[in-house]
Amino acid sequence: MTERELVDLAFTMLERSYVPYSHFPVGAALECADGTVFTGCNVENAAYGSTICAERTAAVKAVSEGHRDDFVRIAIVGNSTDYCWPCGACRQFLFEFAPGLECLVARGDREYVKLPLRELLPHGFGPKSLL
Ligand code: THU
Repeated sequence: MTERELVDLAFTMLERSYVPYSHFPVGAALECADGTVFTGCNVENAAYGSTICAERTAAVKAVSEGHRDDFVRIAIVGNSTDYCWPCGACRQFLFEFAPGLECLVARGDREYVKLPLRELLPHGFGPKSLL
């Protein structure tokens, strides 16, 4: 899948977002080494803190389907003017599985920037930090 296709796939997830509180849909598409792609959207909750972000939805779908060590790329998209930067919790959550994950971060006009997760979360705390 091309980068553009992964970003566009993430955009298709915006309509699945459950966002009655923020009205801010976010979509994600996580690609694994064998080409399998797991999509995600944000799912909000009346207890706001229980909301799950799009990226974590995709990551949890992947891990629960047996993909844990082979995350390659993730597209993160929103309808915003600015790029839809992943929140701190999602940076941390993804760092656990793939510190070098390539992140394609898009804005509402579908332009995107590409950068490694390590740049979004320098000196991240991961499994090795516990040794
Ligand atoms: N959101 C995500 O899905 N991913 C992020 O990394 C940033 C924030 C969602 C959470 C909430 O549903 C909405 O965006 C507004 O914060």
